[in-house]
Amino acid sequence: MDKFLIKGGQPLQGTVAISGAKNSALPAMAASLLTAEPVALHNIPRVRDIITMAKLLAFMGAHVSVDACPAADYCISAKTISHAEAPYELVKTMRASILTLGPALARLGIARVSLPGGCAIGARPVDLHLNALEKMGAEIHTAHGFIEAKAPRGRLQGGRIKFEKITVTGTENILMAAALADGETLIENAAREPEITDLVVLLRKMGAKISGDGSATLRVEGVQTLRGADHTVIPDRIEAGTFLVAGAITGGDLTLLNCEPEHLGATIDLLRKAGVVTETTGPNRVRVRAPRKLNAADVTTLEYPGFATDMQAQYMALATQAEGYSTINETIFENRFLHASEMMRMGANISIDGHRALVHGPSALSGSTVQASDLRASAGLVLAGLVASGETIVERVYHIDRGYERIVEKLRAVGAAIARVHGQSQ
Ligand code: EPU
Repeated sequence: MDKFLIKGGQPLQGTVAISGAKNSALPAMAASLLTAEPVALHNIPRVRDIITMAKLLAFMGAHVSVDACPAADYCISAKTISHAEAPYELVKTMRASILTLGPALARLGIARVSLPGGCAIGARPVDLHLNALEKMGAEIHTAHGFIEAKAPRGRLQGGRIKFEKITVTGTENILMAAALADGETLIENAAREPEITDLVVLLRKMGAKISGDGSATLRVEGVQTLRGADHTVIPDRIEAGTFLVAGAITGGDLTLLNCEPEHLGATIDLLRKAGVVTETTGPNRVRVRAPRKLNAADVTTLEYPGFATDMQAQYMALATQAEGYSTINETIFENRFLHASEMMRMGANISIDGHRALVHGPSALSGSTVQASDLRASAGLVLAGLVASGETIVERVYHIDRGYERIVEKLRAVGAAIARVHGQSQ
């Protein structure tokens, strides 16, 4: 297994280009199952989860090529779908495989997806996806570890869906299913993440009739067929947020390029409360600088436009360097503080009480060997390593490879002393 070796203490300086959003690219790739025509997708990050999604679409019978369309990162042509199935081997490595359920069912009237199990950050059921598809007429059974779904007479029906709880991939699955269903679907209590809006923009290019994007109520008028499209996914707001923290925690001066400042509102507000200076220096540029002393600031993770749970571990790393008590409330996932115990091993002063973490800073972190437990936890540990004295070894970085494109190269280019050490096997 690969590891990262970090020598902390270098202020990061310079510019870093932000990649395309993994969590926009995944549903965009799944949406290509809705049409027999090619879908060309640009700005797709080269990360492990994208490779897994590409493998899954190819398993289903789609033709997936990289850099084949002019200037496209991915060109996906699902002219025929031979297996409307997401097998266990792929789903177990990436829960977002569930995103193929809605489009495959809408296009073919049948789909089979291995049930995703729990994961490090919580149980993460998919009941809301399934209940919503049932409201659209799907007959769903689970057997032998698989979700087996069928649309009577091969077509889903529009319906009124009110999500009991906001779900990002649930909203995306239903949007894609509704785009090819008979009649109108009303989705209430929908997620409002920028990745949802990006999917709506793509679906509209494909001929879908959708209104209300950006709000909690989406209206979809189903159409008979969808066409191919050309689409550039939005910048990754979580990667951008991670680099903002990297600049701030090291007392550096970083400028992020190719980012979308509008999507960074909650992160920037929190960093400002902590005393970090950020400024938008161009339409897609944000500069971050940090004073000598950071202040403690409380935060609660919420659905967009609130502070993202996917930024919580990174903020915790920053809070260990801020003066005073910072309370971090995690409201989205039940078990998303696994990085805290690793940060404590580095000398952080953190206590956990259920969904709440209390961080008392500043603590002089000392380089240690720590284990990454999930994608964003790994990013938090890398950030802690950047300010720790001596050498930090982050193990199990295959988690970080799922969602951060060339993170070692990007950090090194702005002055971090970080290297990847290749292990024997994963
Ligand atoms: N939930 C249910 N039932 C469902 C679906 C969700 O109870 O059927 C619960 C979840 O267990 C969780 C909450 O609802 O407690 C919200 O989950 P959501 O469905 O919104 O999460 P997701 O769609 O599975 C996406 C991102 C995650 C991100 C969350 C929250 C993708 C591919 N994944 O997951 O990203 O943390 O939304 O914003 O978009 C990451 O990139 O590291 C990552 C984990």
